[in-house]
Amino acid sequence: MKHIVSGIQPTGSLNLGTYLGSIRNFVKLQDTYPEHHFMLFIADLHAITIPRDRLELRKTIRELAALYLACGLRQERLSLFIQSEIPAHSQMAHLLQCFTYMGELERMTQFKDKARRQETGVSAALFTYPVLMAGDILLYDAEYVPVGEDQTQHLELTRDVAERVNSRLGDVFTVPKLLTPKVGARIMSLTEPAQKMSKSDPNEKSRILLLDPEPLVRKRIMSAVTDSDTRIIYDKENKPGISNLLVMLSALTDVPIKALEEQFAQANYGTFKKAVADAVVDTLKPIQSRYQSLIKDPELDAFLDAGRDYAEKVAMRKVAKLNHKLGLGRKR
Ligand code: TYM
Repeated sequence: MKHIVSGIQPTGSLNLGTYLGSIRNFVKLQDTYPEHHFMLFIADLHAITIPRDRLELRKTIRELAALYLACGLRQERLSLFIQSEIPAHSQMAHLLQCFTYMGELERMTQFKDKARRQETGVSAALFTYPVLMAGDILLYDAEYVPVGEDQTQHLELTRDVAERVNSRLGDVFTVPKLLTPKVGARIMSLTEPAQKMSKSDPNEKSRILLLDPEPLVRKRIMSAVTDSDTRIIYDKENKPGISNLLVMLSALTDVPIKALEEQFAQANYGTFKKAVADAVVDTLKPIQSRYQSLIKDPELDAFLDAGRDYAEKVAMRKVAKLNHKLGLGRKR
């Protein structure tokens, strides 16, 4: 079975950047790749590389599981699971650490950013985070990994490690390919459009959460930072705020940016922002109502159990294969 694999960290509520950069893409890819099985997981082992409140983490894991499905993923050809329920992820991370160089990890820009922002001690796990991620992907022989642009460097490392293992031990892993969405691979902050929209930004006005109520969504978009020029054109350098809103509208409506520029050639910023707010609200409304029923539904647990069982079987086989190739344990 060919796999498409991706994960999201359960850290804070999902924002529009994560939705457009990843989940919306997964939904589309289910049609683009009708032969593939989708393995999507909640990356809770990644989340604890930074200290978290235990009750908050548990709540977010469940919320994320319900949101994945509420966003329109079809349950056939999909295994949804929680990373920590599959011990093979931790096992594989150790095995792959033996094939990863310190220098490679030191070059990871996301580690440098996160470490810089941290007030207390930076954990070793934050440093080795990309190896855990490589394991998440290689355990399942993922052919494609749909992610936003910020994960590109991690995926390159995954490919390098896979090739290294294959060249030392023979054919162990499929070398995965990156799949970023054409539009929406990097949604920017609403208050500082030079920065990525992020769940860790202390300024709540910088993002829209998928479960935000309509009036708040509208308020956030209407007060998004723009510029003093009046034209609605895509110019990332000089008009990052308007360009970001154009990208969001294009990703939400599937109308190309060029066509949107023509459509709004005579409009003012207020009219344009209202159209963006309408598109966000139209997208979020059905997601929010599906979410409200899914979060209470015991079927959600049954689905997560089935996802875990499938993932565990595939993952255990891969760990056993690598253990064997490395000469670990006894020969069987
Ligand atoms: P995470 O949880 O930070 O983000 C989840 C996904 O959302 C994308 N994303 C964005 N895309 C566009 N614009 C944004 N502003 C934006 N913010 C987030 C991310 O690129 C990502 O695709 N390390 C990963 C989780 C992970 C993973 C994996 C992913 C762990 N193991 C294996 C794929 C395969 C992360 O922290 O994503």
